Amino acid sequence: MTDEEAVLTRRHLEYIAERTKGDDPFLIELKQAADKADIPHIWISPAQASFMQIILKLHGAKSVIEVGTLAGYSAICMARALPEGGRVRTIELEDKHADFAEEWIAKSDVAGKVEVLRGAGTDVLPKLEVGSADACFLDADKANYPTYLDECLRIMPVGGLVMADNALGFGRILTAPADDPGVSAVRRFNDYMAAKKNVHGVIAPVGDGCWVGVKEA
Ligand SMILES: C[S@@+](CC[C@H](N)C(=O)[O-])C[C@H]1O[C@@H](n2cnc3c(N)ncnc32)[C@H](O)[C@@H]1O
Repeated sequence: MTDEEAVLTRRHLEYIAERTKGDDPFLIELKQAADKADIPHIWISPAQASFMQIILKLHGAKSVIEVGTLAGYSAICMARALPEGGRVRTIELEDKHADFAEEWIAKSDVAGKVEVLRGAGTDVLPKLEVGSADACFLDADKANYPTYLDECLRIMPVGGLVMADNALGFGRILTAPADDPGVSAVRRFNDYMAAKKNVHGVIAPVGDGCWVGVKEA
C-alpha cells in the first residue's frame, strides 16, 4: 500500500457513512431545530454515533459521563445504547446549549435517561462520586481534556471505558503549525493519553479520530 492509498479521504468517509445507520426522523428534526437556533453544526457524525453505540453495548455500559452536550445529539445516541435503567450525565457550559438540549432530550425516546449538568467540566466532574460511571465521552474544550480524563479515571472503576473526540485535530493533526491553539491542545492530550500507564487506548479513525480506551489497574 502506498502512502497515497493509505490516506483516509473524504470519499472513504462517505463510503463508510453510506453503509452506516443514519439519523432517524427525530434526530434529523433536532439538527434542523439546532440550525435554526444558531447552534453550531459540530456534533459527531452518525457513523461515529453508531461506532460509540456499539462500543457502549459491547462494554455493557450503564452510566456514561459526557463533557460537551451541545444540542444533545451524542447524549441521546449514547443513551439509546444503554440498558433499562442506564443513564447519561452530560456536562455543558453554555446555558443556550443546555436549554436546547434539555428541551429536545425531554421530547426524545430517552427522556429520563439523560441529565444535563450545567457548568464547566472542571467544576462539575470533581463533584461526581467515585464509582458512579462506567464510561465517559470527552467532547468539549480540548485544553482541559487531560483534567477531564483524570477526573473520569477517578470516577470510573478498573474496566471503565474512555472515549474522546477529535484525536485527529479537526483533520489537521499532522499539518497545523505548532502554535495553532486548538490542534496543539489535541496533540498534548494525544501524547498524555498515549503515555497513561493505566489506560489501554487506541485512536480509531472514525469521524475526526475517536480515542477508545479501557482503564487498567
Ligand atoms: C463539540 S460540542 C459537543 C458536541 C456533542 N458532544 C455532540 O456530538 O452532539 C462541544 C460543547 O462543549 C461545550 N463546552 C465548551 N467548553 C466547555 C467546558 N469548559 N465545560 C463544559 N462544556 C464545554 C460547548 O459549549 C459545546 O456545546
